[in-house]
Amino acid sequence: MTDMSEPLLSVDDLKKYFPVKGGILKRTTGHVKAVDGVSFDINSGDTLALIGESGSGKSTVARTIIGLHETTDGTIRFDGEDITNPSDEQLTHLRSRVQMVFQDPTSSLNPRRTVGKSLAVPLKARGVPSSEIRDRVSELLVRVELNDEYWNKYPHELSGGQKQRINIARALAVQPDLLLLDEPTSALDVSVQAKIIALLEDLQEEFGLTYLFITHDLSLVRNFADETAVMYLGEIQEHGSTEEVFHRPRHPYSRALLSAIPVTSAEEEAYKPRHEPLRGEIPSPRDVPTGCRFHTRCPYATDDCTTAEPDFTAIASGPHVRCHIYDDAYRDIFDEIPDVAVVGATDDETDEITQMER
Ligand SMILES: Nc1ncnc2c1ncn2[C@@H]1O[C@H](COP(=O)(O)OP(=O)(O)O)[C@@H](O)[C@H]1O
Ligand SMILES: [Mg+2]
Repeated sequence: MTDMSEPLLSVDDLKKYFPVKGGILKRTTGHVKAVDGVSFDINSGDTLALIGESGSGKSTVARTIIGLHETTDGTIRFDGEDITNPSDEQLTHLRSRVQMVFQDPTSSLNPRRTVGKSLAVPLKARGVPSSEIRDRVSELLVRVELNDEYWNKYPHELSGGQKQRINIARALAVQPDLLLLDEPTSALDVSVQAKIIALLEDLQEEFGLTYLFITHDLSLVRNFADETAVMYLGEIQEHGSTEEVFHRPRHPYSRALLSAIPVTSAEEEAYKPRHEPLRGEIPSPRDVPTGCRFHTRCPYATDDCTTAEPDFTAIASGPHVRCHIYDDAYRDIFDEIPDVAVVGATDDETDEITQMER
């Protein structure tokens, strides 16, 4: 029985460091801090979007939750149970309640198995009697808006979207509670992406599923996720309701990411943050900058930002933000920065404009 007062998934100060080995002795010479103190909860039936540039640690979060990576530090609780570094027994149980859908629909499917076989395997593993398998596979195909014609097809006969539907059906076969969706549409054509998202929404409603939805495509998040967490270099920089984060991003990193998405309505245009170009490349998680780890790319960085790591602070209207600039002392100044477009400005010009605004 799920205790409704407790989040279905609770991640507390999760860390995943990968050792870097060097030299002929293959000694550990450092660590890739892929996930460096990440905390969030997801309530049953909700969707949390985890967004951020490639390399920010999103996939590592999901893979650690599902037990594909050993946890370096922190705790993961699922439905009240501590599942950090699960035992084999816990892992078996977990596989029937938590499933993952990966970015590449092709490599997730066995090329030598027909669709029917691919879907029958998890059903059998769950102990569904042979006499029922046929009906259950048919049912799964219908759930993902395919039909029995697909039964004998091999993966190479399917489009990317169809393959991803089969992957989703396979995840659903065990009747999970939580799906970890790691960029499930980013290998697909735009028109197909929208259909897969619509399917995921329908399935969520029908089965009361809980989603961790990982993406770097922000345009998919706005109407889909209840909450959004913005990840940068292994840390969550901002987390709030999707509406808050999209309409009023506070962290300079969120502002930069969100100002880059195309707007589709006048309302979105009105709320869109001014163009705040993201400078340079994401630094290596092997060598995380001191202080605020975003300071090397932040147009607002002060001396404080280079030395002191900002806390993850709740602000009055709900979201949490990890930023020195956006604390009590600076908030008013930051809020008064007019939403003028600096489109096309060079970094130096942007700095200059920012300085003038301060
Ligand atoms: N198995 C691994 N071994 C070493 N480094 C890894 C491994 N998996 C991911 N990383 C590194 O961790 C960082 C975060 O990767 P990832 O979680 O894939 O980010 P994202 O999904 O946000 O693109 C990257 O620098 C990546 O190279
Ligand atoms: Mg990834």
